[in-house]
Amino acid sequence: MGFIPISFKKPRPCGRRGPARPFTIRESPPYPSAAVTPSPSAALQARAPSFSLPQFRASLAMFATGVTIVTARTPEGVLVGLTANSFNSVSLDPPLVLWSLARTATSMAAFRAGSHYAVNVLAADQMALAERFASRGAERWAGTDFTEGASGAPLLAGAAAVFECFNRSRYEEGDHTIFVGEVEACSHRPGASPLLFHGGRFYTEHPL
Ligand SMILES: Cc1cc2nc3c(=O)[nH]c(=O)nc-3n(C[C@H](O)[C@H](O)[C@H](O)COP(=O)(O)O)c2cc1C
Repeated sequence: MGFIPISFKKPRPCGRRGPARPFTIRESPPYPSAAVTPSPSAALQARAPSFSLPQFRASLAMFATGVTIVTARTPEGVLVGLTANSFNSVSLDPPLVLWSLARTATSMAAFRAGSHYAVNVLAADQMALAERFASRGAERWAGTDFTEGASGAPLLAGAAAVFECFNRSRYEEGDHTIFVGEVEACSHRPGASPLLFHGGRFYTEHPL
């Protein structure tokens, strides 16, 4: 078994080893930005799904992920944030990440319009925060400890890692919008245990 269900452990001290080194990037090859390459079979169409929505959900749920809270601050100063496990890496050079947002999300307008956001990778002791930022009625920011990133996006205290992103491009696909962020700054807590999500439950890591 690779994971054990979440258990609350004493948070580890938040230690950074010296000042963050700037992310230096080799001179990039001229990769096109936000180019969309059509599928070679663009003239064809996918067959209709041979499975039910619950079967699709159950199969997707076998993919264990980390958990993030994506945050932003609107020009009016309103704080926005939601729990998302669709986060993934895209490219090292340039440094790109992605995540996807349901078209029905109330935060969609803010993320579409904003120039920056932050992806906060949650630590194992932040399950309550993950639940709060996934609940519609919840007062998400009351009592939430954060600092302000260079772009103004909230950086959550105690996160295992933080990626401060320029809102580089987005892709409308199905009922979600994929956001690709260009990472301007990142940091992590060495040794922090990440919060994991699998099959509708939260876990903490258990090395094999
Ligand atoms: C573990 C977990 C992961 C989630 N991942 C996503 C995600 O990647 N994208 C998304 O749109 N919603 C995701 N959600 C649901 C949103 O957090 C939830 O719908 C939230 O209320 C959306 O906030 P908003 O309507 O204020 O934008 C996730 C929820 C949980 C519990």
